[in-house]
Amino acid sequence: MNCLAYLASSALRWNLILLLSAFLFCSCLSEQTPEFALTEVKEKKMHETENEEVTVEDELDPEDQEAFYPTREWQTVKPGQAVPAGLHMRLNLQTGKNEARIPDPENEKNGMKYKKKDKRLGKVNVDSNLYTPQELKKALAKFKEGVTESTEEEKAKLEGIKQKFRPIDELKKEFEELNMQIETDFEIMTKLISKFNSSNSSLDEKAAALNDLEYYVHQVDNAQNMLCVGGLQLVINELNGTEAVLKELSAFVLGSALSSNPKVQVEAIEGGALQKLLMILGTEQPLSLKKKALFALSSMLRHFPYAQQQFLKHGGLQILRSFFREKGAEVLCIRVVTLLYDMIVEKALLHDFEGNSEQMKEKIEQYEQINLVPVIMEQGWCTIISDLLGMPEHDTREKVLKTVHLLMASCRDQYREDQKLNSTLNILRREYEELVSEEQKSGENDSYFRELLINVNEILQNLR
Ligand SMILES: *[C@@H]1O[C@H](CO)[C@@H](O)[C@H](O)[C@H]1NC(C)=O
Ligand SMILES: *[C@@H]1O[C@H](CO)[C@@H](O)[C@H](O)[C@H]1NC(C)=O
Ligand SMILES: *[C@@H]1O[C@H](CO)[C@@H](O)[C@H](O)[C@H]1NC(C)=O
Ligand SMILES: *[C@@H]1O[C@H](CO)[C@@H](O)[C@H](O)[C@H]1NC(C)=O
Ligand SMILES: *[C@@H]1O[C@H](CO)[C@@H](O)[C@H](O)[C@H]1NC(C)=O
Repeated sequence: MNCLAYLASSALRWNLILLLSAFLFCSCLSEQTPEFALTEVKEKKMHETENEEVTVEDELDPEDQEAFYPTREWQTVKPGQAVPAGLHMRLNLQTGKNEARIPDPENEKNGMKYKKKDKRLGKVNVDSNLYTPQELKKALAKFKEGVTESTEEEKAKLEGIKQKFRPIDELKKEFEELNMQIETDFEIMTKLISKFNSSNSSLDEKAAALNDLEYYVHQVDNAQNMLCVGGLQLVINELNGTEAVLKELSAFVLGSALSSNPKVQVEAIEGGALQKLLMILGTEQPLSLKKKALFALSSMLRHFPYAQQQFLKHGGLQILRSFFREKGAEVLCIRVVTLLYDMIVEKALLHDFEGNSEQMKEKIEQYEQINLVPVIMEQGWCTIISDLLGMPEHDTREKVLKTVHLLMASCRDQYREDQKLNSTLNILRREYEELVSEEQKSGENDSYFRELLINVNEILQNLR
């Protein structure tokens, strides 16, 4: 099946990246390698690198992961964050973090890939020439066992390994031999789907099957696999089922499968997922179910202009606005603001990508038809959003500040009249001035509060 051939090739590529990331992560962090590029990874998600880091985040819901906003600068990709297709990615050895950016068209012209030209990145490219197959095999074995810490000796050895060069095709061949995962993932998922679909399964069994399925569909390949065997439609159908727990888990599976996965996005909207999700969000439902439904909706809308159009047509914005009248729904409101921000930025960023292909033209045309900002203004979102600046959490304020800043051109008249906004901003300014100066006194130079302060000041400036 065509579908599967595609999956096999991308799964292979993914494993290569995954292995190298993990391998390097535990051994090379302290070394003086300047920069290290994993170039041109397409349709990849960073979920699999989570193990060491996700636990650090305090009870972060998986759907809390922000979307990644690519720019021309390298930016850190947080564990679990979905990265849009077509970005350049690399592992920064200084920090051990994955980074991504929009490919620089300057360096892409005439078919020149940036890695050839970018002098900073020139020397070491993981995907072209690093390890011998034996060394990779060993690393993979260790990786599977779960390596804890590498000794000084190993570190020194790795430093030596890094000097060696090896063509990528050879590595791929070796990997093909090692790679058993495609089959087993597929088999496991098929079993889970039939367990979920079986009338013999108990509610608990079905819930467990969905839970496990959610783990698998984070990988782009697996999500498309689920589509191939009919699991996607089953999950969509469950969204208007009778069991709240199954609805919630189905929305969760769907959201994870949709993230940065255009194929699944198209199939899901054709399968009626949008209407069902809006139905959940627009009716009285447990908060946990709404959270997951909003997660799925966001994953569906991001980078998918057709879905955004349908969403507006179906009155989706009004439905989301209703959260702002509900008590205890703040967590939903913040996610809504984030989603709106994403959609506006996404359209604005479109022109940053090289835009000559037919596909790109079509995409731009589709985006032209989405007039989100006028609708936002019409529905009174300007103040709905700025009112959230009163929230105590810095990261919430950060999101809201960014959105207010973004909407400034359109909402300026309303914002200028808004005494409450003025006084809130002045309070925030004092607070962040204090935090910045405290940080400086203690010798820290975290730019986080400084960034917030700059945002506040810019908005105040704009209001004058
Ligand atoms: C359900 O269980 C019965 C008896 O164990 C079996 O005969 C039947 O084939 C099962 N049905 C499904 C759909 O698995
Ligand atoms: C789910 O079960 C029904 C009937 O029990 C069957 O017709 C259908 O093919 C199954 N779907 C999947 C994706 O397994
Ligand atoms: C769910 O919606 C479909 C149509 O989209 C309908 O056929 C089905 O009966 C609905 N299920 C429930 C339980 O309401
Ligand atoms: C905003 O608030 C500050 C201090 O709270 C005040 O000095 C200023 O006049 C206000 N600006 C407007 C436009 O109301
Ligand atoms: C902190 O950052 C400021 C401005 O970016 C810079 O002038 C200053 O030297 C930095 N201080 C330290 C301790 O890094």
